[in-house]
Amino acid sequence: MQVAIDGPASAGKSTVAKIIAKNLSFVYIDTGAMYRACTVIARNHNLDYGNEEGILKAIDQDGIELKSENGEQKVYSAGKNISLEIRTPEISANVSQVSALPGIREKMVALQRELAGHTDVIMDGRDIGTTVLPDAEVKIFLVASARSRAERRLLDLKERGIHTDQTVEQIEADIAARDYKDSHRAVSPLRKAADAIEIDTTNLSIDQVVEKISEEIEKKSKKL
Ligand code: DC
Repeated sequence: MQVAIDGPASAGKSTVAKIIAKNLSFVYIDTGAMYRACTVIARNHNLDYGNEEGILKAIDQDGIELKSENGEQKVYSAGKNISLEIRTPEISANVSQVSALPGIREKMVALQRELAGHTDVIMDGRDIGTTVLPDAEVKIFLVASARSRAERRLLDLKERGIHTDQTVEQIEADIAARDYKDSHRAVSPLRKAADAIEIDTTNLSIDQVVEKISEEIEKKSKKL
């Protein structure tokens, strides 16, 4: 069974996907982390974030590896654990530019399909239901107001021990700017798949969202 969860930044995708993956023993794949890893690699090689050819070469050199450690997805590149580095504001501010490069997307989509393989998988991102896994049995599109997403992002940074001087208003503005870029890029823009179920998480608890999605998975697995 393939479960695709798409939606804008900080709508709660990874939080609920991780819980469901654990409950159902599915493999969890965070595709945003892969585009973030590409951005870290570009920075480490002092490459312009628009230099597609250079970044592709650097990715081939350093590689991107996803490892599951104690049920958490960790990201490695060039033998180094970059799981914290991919979440810094500098990387967040530049990942939209890198993830809009067609060659980078092509490479990541191929890698994502390979990782999904033939196991039960829950994958979150922006184009999973539309492009990466168009045949996924369950497709969810999560949305939430920009303000509530900014509040969640701030809490998330705090919990990860990452310091930020940004106020909630600044984070909200960053999120709105990223939403715009993600939904207006030429290749695989953020878009709800025609057969996806939309869930607005603004006023829902994590448990409520988990329950709704789990119900959809159960309904589909009875039909299979
Ligand atoms: O989900 P996130 O904030 O970690 O994603 C980081 C960036 O990667 C975000 O700007 C959109 C992009 N992204 C994408 O273009 N396609 C995906 N499948 C996942 C993320």
